[in-house]
Amino acid sequence: MQTIEIKTVAGKRSKILTGENFINLQNYLPAQKAILIIDENIFDLYGGFFKNFQCIKIQASESNKTLKTVENIILKLIEFQVDRSAFIVGVGGGITCDIAGFTASVYMRGLPFGFISTSLLSQADASVGGKNGVNFCGFKNMIGTFNQPEFVICDTNMLDTLPQKEFLCGLSEIIKIALIKDVGMFKSIETKSNDILKRDKTVLQKLITKSIRHKAEIIGRDEFEKGERRILNFGHTLAHAIEANDNVSHGFAVSIGMMFAAKLSKHFGLISSDVIESMKHLFMRLGLPYYTDIDDELLSNAIIADKKKNDDEINFVLLDGIGRATEKNIKIDAFKTLISTFK
Ligand SMILES: NC(=O)c1ccc[n+]([C@@H]2O[C@H](COP(=O)([O-])OP(=O)(O)OC[C@H]3O[C@@H](n4cnc5c(N)ncnc54)[C@H](O)[C@@H]3O)[C@@H](O)[C@H]2O)c1
Ligand SMILES: [Zn+2]
Repeated sequence: MQTIEIKTVAGKRSKILTGENFINLQNYLPAQKAILIIDENIFDLYGGFFKNFQCIKIQASESNKTLKTVENIILKLIEFQVDRSAFIVGVGGGITCDIAGFTASVYMRGLPFGFISTSLLSQADASVGGKNGVNFCGFKNMIGTFNQPEFVICDTNMLDTLPQKEFLCGLSEIIKIALIKDVGMFKSIETKSNDILKRDKTVLQKLITKSIRHKAEIIGRDEFEKGERRILNFGHTLAHAIEANDNVSHGFAVSIGMMFAAKLSKHFGLISSDVIESMKHLFMRLGLPYYTDIDDELLSNAIIADKKKNDDEINFVLLDGIGRATEKNIKIDAFKTLISTFK
């Protein structure tokens, strides 16, 4: 087991435990009454253990990641007479932890909370950063808070039951971290791809721990996404446009988006075609998609609609070599051509 300590600007501390067994939950709970907000799939698979706790089960889907679900959870918390002395534990993947973290942050002006993070994506990515929240009127993660959990338990054994598609989506975000921060990590993903696909616990735990450490370092320097944290959006500009036009899984949209961003990086003279070839080879080997057939116009319109600032440029994260990210402002007028050439 490894422990990663996160310190926030506000001086709050959060502990992420990789390779810890979820049945040790009790060791991390304070003396207060604990209420679990748990993904019903996890309850069905691992309920023997969780039956010992007061549980609120939720269905983990994007369409259910709403204020209505938060309202229903709050009604249950009131019914269970949960007061400010209680402790909340979210148990599930990114959807459940985002909902549980948000509910805990607003119920009675905020209760302390922790997570048992059960998917590869939530262990390697969503467990760190303190973002939580829900979707609103079709806008993803539109309502939420920055608030750190007291602890996150990342149990690699739980990944055995994760559906293959979800596993690959988590892997895509791990590769993103390697591409923007750590060439050695990228090389070890290449050499250990067989073990990864076999879900070797030692290999996975190392990758999860590395991803968390890198993300934590970035966030430690830029908690509120004013600068460096933006590099975590590598691959995500096109990914969001793909997701707006197709119900492809996020991690698959990200692998396509990363390949597009890499091709743009080559176009701007930042990397050689060897990098593109290495990425393509790895994505094929793992079963991650790397191109899209969605119409160019639909994609560029979605990118323009998604841009956060009201100017004629888009801040785009590119690669300046494997393990090194850089940012470039690209004129939106240029996007249509770039998309049709490189998507
Ligand atoms: N807070 C953040 O910083 C952050 C970062 C990245 C993503 N997210 C959010 O995370 C969400 C996606 O997370 P996700 O991919 O974990 O989705 P998820 O929570 O929906 O989990 C994916 C699916 O896998 C199932 N599952 C999870 N763990 C399992 C296990 N161990 N065994 C069997 N089935 C299991 C779930 O029931 C679900 O059907 C998105 O809503 C995204 O916005 C948040
Ligand atoms: Zn992502």
